[in-house]
Amino acid sequence: MAGIPVASAVTVCLSLCSQMQTVTLIPGDGIGPEISAAVIKIFEAAKVPVKWEERNVTAIKGPGGRWMIPPDAKESMDRSKIGLKGPLKTPIAAGHPSMNLLLRKTFDLYANVRPCISIEGYKTPYTDVDLVTIRENTEGEYSGIEHVIVDGVVQSIKLITEKASKRIAEYAFEYARNNQRNSVTAVHKANIMRMSDGLFLRKCREVAENFKDIKFTEMYLDTVCLNMVQDPTQFDVLVMPNLYGDILSDLCAGLIGGLGVTPSGNIGANGVAIFESVHGTAPDIAGLDLANPTALLLSAVMMLRHMGLHPHADKIQTACFDTIRDKKFLTKDLGGNAKCSEFTSEICRRVQDLDGGH
Ligand SMILES: NC(=O)c1ccc[n+]([C@@H]2O[C@H](COP(=O)([O-])OP(=O)(O)OC[C@H]3O[C@@H](n4cnc5c(N)ncnc54)[C@H](O)[C@@H]3O)[C@@H](O)[C@H]2O)c1
Repeated sequence: MAGIPVASAVTVCLSLCSQMQTVTLIPGDGIGPEISAAVIKIFEAAKVPVKWEERNVTAIKGPGGRWMIPPDAKESMDRSKIGLKGPLKTPIAAGHPSMNLLLRKTFDLYANVRPCISIEGYKTPYTDVDLVTIRENTEGEYSGIEHVIVDGVVQSIKLITEKASKRIAEYAFEYARNNQRNSVTAVHKANIMRMSDGLFLRKCREVAENFKDIKFTEMYLDTVCLNMVQDPTQFDVLVMPNLYGDILSDLCAGLIGGLGVTPSGNIGANGVAIFESVHGTAPDIAGLDLANPTALLLSAVMMLRHMGLHPHADKIQTACFDTIRDKKFLTKDLGGNAKCSEFTSEICRRVQDLDGGH
């Protein structure tokens, strides 16, 4: 809400904060239903004005044999424009593409956004990490264009377009401006991939010209990796093509404690956005009440900010971080003995306390 005068910000919040909004919930597989139930419970405790529309997504074959997500899930997302998604299993040799990929394609989810912020009380070798990776999600090295040239020689095409590069660069700068961040770093290898990364970088430079209030820097991917592990506090917002983003975003998640505590959002064309936990379905602990719901909960907090529900987001985030800092109700992966349900109840209790017990 940066740039909006306080009076209008209050008016926007008053109207958004009381209006019921529909969110499509895709609980997912494995631990997905357990961590989704935890989020629903915490949202109820925080009195978030959200109506969940639950949809399952399994790949189905549409006209012409094309794989698609079930029409009722697509129709719900088209209407609500906002989704929260748990992990989905990708069966090997199931014959259909990954559901995550199918969702990305169906809704043209072109920007993957992952804020990586150190969690006080959850010790890692790094402190004060506060950065955001923004990954181009639709092309680059993951365009899926591969072929055999002759026996023993294969070729994989890295597709970079002016349109997608400009779109992700604009998103990164707008994100920086709207979230009170100071700088954007374009991550590239234009010294080697002169044409493809060269085009990506050129578009970032051009877009930077329209955002003079945001500092723009450009850095080689290898230099970013080196500097990142030495001192991550020097980075703010980073924008990059698909493969670099896939790797660097996991590296950054590792700096703050791993995928179990890292939220993620996928921003798409036509105003659609899907927020998701980035860990897998954890089949080894599914159904045992041992899962840590933090990543999905923090993704849901990101979603609330996207929806303009900042007071609810603040309340839930504070309750979650306070619970982790207090260390009494940590799940096993965070070094404690609490069940998922105990961790969840503690967050609910703290949310209600923040509300003054009402
Ligand atoms: N975004 C997604 O939907 C997504 C991402 C990764 C993997 N997957 C799928 O998940 C399935 C299993 O994948 P995997 O075993 O490689 O990775 P995984 O993330 O499911 O599990 C790796 C380890 O982390 C633990 N873990 C993961 N999330 C946890 C949580 N919230 N709380 C506590 N512990 C947690 C698991 O118990 C396991 O020991 C596969 O089918 C894979 O395709 C889905």
